[in-house]
Amino acid sequence: NSEVVDTDVLIVGSGPAGSSAALFLSTLGVDNIMITKYRWTANTPRAHITNQRTMEIFRDVGIEAQVLAEATPHEMIGDTVFCTSIAGDEIGRILAWGNHPSRHADYELASPSLNCDIPQTYLEPILVKNATMRGTQTEFSTEYLSHTQDGTGVSVRVLHRVTGREYTIRAKYLIGADGARSKVASDIDLPMEGEMDIAGSMNITFKTDLTKFVGHRPSVLYWVVQPGSNIGGIGAGLVRMVRPWDEWLIVWGFDISQGAPEVTDEDALQVVRNLIGVPDLEAEITGVSLWGNNEQYAAHLHNGRVFCAGDAVHKHPPSNGLGSNTSIQDSYNLAWKIASVLRGQAGPDLLETYSTERAPVAKQIVTRANQSGREFGALFDALGLKPGQSAEEMNSAIASRKERTPEGARTRTKVREAMELKNYEFNAHGVELGQRYASTAVVPDGREPTSNPRDPELYYQACTDPGVRLPHAWVGNWKEKHSTHDLAPYARFTVLTGTTGAAWEQAAADASQRLGVEIGTVVIGPDREMTDLYFDWDRLRGCAEDGAILVRPDKHIAWRADCLPANPAEQLVTAVSALLSRQ
Ligand code: FDA
Repeated sequence: NSEVVDTDVLIVGSGPAGSSAALFLSTLGVDNIMITKYRWTANTPRAHITNQRTMEIFRDVGIEAQVLAEATPHEMIGDTVFCTSIAGDEIGRILAWGNHPSRHADYELASPSLNCDIPQTYLEPILVKNATMRGTQTEFSTEYLSHTQDGTGVSVRVLHRVTGREYTIRAKYLIGADGARSKVASDIDLPMEGEMDIAGSMNITFKTDLTKFVGHRPSVLYWVVQPGSNIGGIGAGLVRMVRPWDEWLIVWGFDISQGAPEVTDEDALQVVRNLIGVPDLEAEITGVSLWGNNEQYAAHLHNGRVFCAGDAVHKHPPSNGLGSNTSIQDSYNLAWKIASVLRGQAGPDLLETYSTERAPVAKQIVTRANQSGREFGALFDALGLKPGQSAEEMNSAIASRKERTPEGARTRTKVREAMELKNYEFNAHGVELGQRYASTAVVPDGREPTSNPRDPELYYQACTDPGVRLPHAWVGNWKEKHSTHDLAPYARFTVLTGTTGAAWEQAAADASQRLGVEIGTVVIGPDREMTDLYFDWDRLRGCAEDGAILVRPDKHIAWRADCLPANPAEQLVTAVSALLSRQ
């Protein structure tokens, strides 16, 4: 029929990318509709590790406490175990996600928020609920079919799957957040690099109380090296906590070249018993699903008024826990830009920068996640595991690390080195926080980029170079502490300066008025709005006290002035006009 529903932004999908895009747009007051194919949100736990960057985004939009209330906290997720089975031999542990004392300071110093574990089945309802309460029109059981776009908008055909009714939604912009098999991405022909379905995995969800095996070494991830664990999959067998300590998910690989296996509940229970290492374990199997491991990303993320976010543009295994995190961070980058263009504050070219900034991240995380899976190979090598060995040969190879011989000692050293390599999966702080954007939405200041003296994948280096994420420092007054991130809310641009830079306040107010763009100023100094409580900001700010750091709504640094110029308002107007692609 010819019925047409109008909105500013139509979002396809209510996964982490879609529901967070809806939340961010509604938080900014942008009219939006979110459609999703099924009658409710994700029905299996899927993504879970929620990194600091995502948690500080949740903090920014006021839902961090709701997420923490449903999450397993930071200190309970990191005693990552490598073993031959949960009840069997322990090969060793890695303190993951910043839980090692020597890494914990890095994590505490870098962000106001610590990471945690929240399964997708718990996170999505929080995102959908808050988006809908703030204004999103959420339509379940509604499927995207096709679209056409023209100079003023996008007409999208959708199907209401309960009634069979087809209708058109007319939007100014369309966001395809419809997952790894995105129809929107294929309809706009996004250029994809890499391959899908390079290895096979099965997810088995089950319930059984494993407290006595794991309560004293709390983690979300227990990696199992036993016969079969080097075939397909994500590197090794994985027993993953969903809820401590009685709800679990196993990821077990299969040889995808043999086609998809039939997995009955009895087969699933056998895998569970093998990995737990208790032959007569009682467990309730609650689900089995098969999935392909992918190594594919889009080199460009939009076409005209249609944008794709999340797994639609980066498809990779769960290694490093980057899937849902990157999806949410895509939407955080995109939503404020769409809002600025819709309000007439920015030129449409600002939207190009979504792709310029996020496509390199898509490539980086797809590469990292796949490399992490392959790096399990070093552990198999260290243990002497080879393709084609019988189960007996494998078991005796795994046991060879116990030998009281020089050969045994060499094996032990190689096992330690292989375990250390896994820091690139479990403590890759630089990958999580070190994203640096280069686009027209960042105004370079001509200075050399700050170098990172440590490994940039493992370690985050705080700095204020244009393009990087705003460094965190605690500021406040005698009774309150705020992060520098709290000073720069999502709804505006923010200038951070020091006591002798107070003239930036008037300059920002003037620039704000001239441009019709909200630019707040926070002066950090004794007896000012915020005091530099620990002198950390003084160390971090990378410019003179009277200089300025201009922070974008998404907490990336847009522009920096070394010191107070003669005409600060003029300079701000020039910088903001440039980065918003105003003519
Ligand atoms: P996501 O796939 O979550 O959401 C897509 C949305 O689009 C859904 O709401 C769907 O209903 C909707 N949709 C699709 N087609 C549509 C259409 N035509 N019309 C309307 N709606 C449509 N990651 C991780 O970090 N750790 C993990 O353990 C796992 N485990 C895991 C297991 C399995 C089985 C899968 C499939 C994936 C994972 N992942 C994972 C990956 C992680 O779940 C993934 O990165 C995020 O869910 C991506 O979020 P998106 O919102 O982009 O897509």
